[in-house]
Amino acid sequence: MKAVVFHKPKDIRVETVDDPKIEDPQDAILRITLTAICGSDLHIYNGLFPQINPLILGHEFMGVVEEVGSEVQNLKKGDRVVVPFPISCGRCWFCEHGLPIHCENSNRDKYGPEGAVLDQKGGGLFGYTDLYGGYPGGQAEMVRVPYADVNPRKVPDELTDEQVLFLTDILPTGWISIEWADVKEGDSVAVYGCGPVGLMAMKSAWLHGASKVFGLDVEPYRMDMAKKTANAETILVKDGEHVQKLREMTDGRGPDAVVDAAGMEAHISAVRKLEAAVHAETGTIEALSMAISSVRRGGRVSVMGVYATVYDNFPFGQIFDKGLTLRGGQAPVQDYIDQLMDLIREGKIRADDIITHRIGIDEAPQAYKMFNNKEDNCVKVVIKP
Ligand SMILES: NC(=O)c1ccc[n+]([C@@H]2O[C@H](COP(=O)([O-])OP(=O)(O)OC[C@H]3O[C@@H](n4cnc5c(N)ncnc54)[C@H](O)[C@@H]3O)[C@@H](O)[C@H]2O)c1
Ligand SMILES: [Zn+2]
Ligand SMILES: [Zn+2]
Repeated sequence: MKAVVFHKPKDIRVETVDDPKIEDPQDAILRITLTAICGSDLHIYNGLFPQINPLILGHEFMGVVEEVGSEVQNLKKGDRVVVPFPISCGRCWFCEHGLPIHCENSNRDKYGPEGAVLDQKGGGLFGYTDLYGGYPGGQAEMVRVPYADVNPRKVPDELTDEQVLFLTDILPTGWISIEWADVKEGDSVAVYGCGPVGLMAMKSAWLHGASKVFGLDVEPYRMDMAKKTANAETILVKDGEHVQKLREMTDGRGPDAVVDAAGMEAHISAVRKLEAAVHAETGTIEALSMAISSVRRGGRVSVMGVYATVYDNFPFGQIFDKGLTLRGGQAPVQDYIDQLMDLIREGKIRADDIITHRIGIDEAPQAYKMFNNKEDNCVKVVIKP
């Protein structure tokens, strides 16, 4: 089959590799019908998450079941499914406590309680480096799905692939950012980053009863997307003025809740880049620091943007003085996917309106480059293998 294979930073190739096989009686093999490139893939692409061995990328995918292992009971050949990006066994302590992202069984080699930089990570993730289980991802013609009775969700016939694909990651991630920020009726919500995750957070904020939703970014075309698809008021992030502007628009206090949907690859000055390098930080906490400055006293910040190492100059004194609640992590997709599938079916939320590029698998390396460099007004690329 054809697959998108990571070799080293900025070097990904479309190659012919062996078809996946059933390795465990609980596996299923899917023929991929649609997959996407995520902002998280860029962290691997840009070398922020190390990966030595070649690996098929991709954790946002859906497809049709081709084959199931002997113990799989809920799926059969021909079923059309979407698959959450975290791999959950469904029966360990964490999976039973609604914490599928911390599954104790899906990342046997590198799992542990510590959450260190290069070991003792969380549960397995599709196509997300050997640190997270080394599972081949879904930017391919086929993929092996472990624990097939637990994770895949069948898709109702009336919904198209594009309508449901983002249930694998960005829609639940955006939704969870709003849940974690405890957004209630009447709240004002600001989202740093008008990329796919930020856009889903803004859409979700309205459905939680927000009275004002702000989208902040450094790229004007992404802000246009936030206006168009999430009805957000937008603010350009520049020279610290954005914090002042947010306060002016929220009675001088700052928003009740702020989401960091930019993460460690946030845009920073050359001087800040040098400082971060000197401190051996991977990327920067610039966006998180902005979120902490902007949010009102006693407010809530949720961090969906990914961070990877220890970061110096973390503004803990400010968090303490302002009495903030901070919550973040990888999204427990399994806990929200069914509810969100219903909202899509009922027409209450739409995710596919952020797609800007539809490509075949051979164009994937070029699409990575375009998405990474924010060329051609790219917001979200879907791949039909
Ligand atoms: N927690 C999770 O489970 C989860 C799931 C999916 C993605 N993510 C992470 O969420 C983040 C966003 O993902 P995405 O797919 O939307 O990626 P993306 O890279 O397309 O979006 C990031 C956006 O942030 C903007 N940005 C950069 N610097 C900024 C700044 N200083 N202030 C405001 N905006 C700034 C960029 O211009 C871009 O529009 C990434 O870090 C990704 O890894 C996390
Ligand atoms: Zn993702
Ligand atoms: Zn588990």
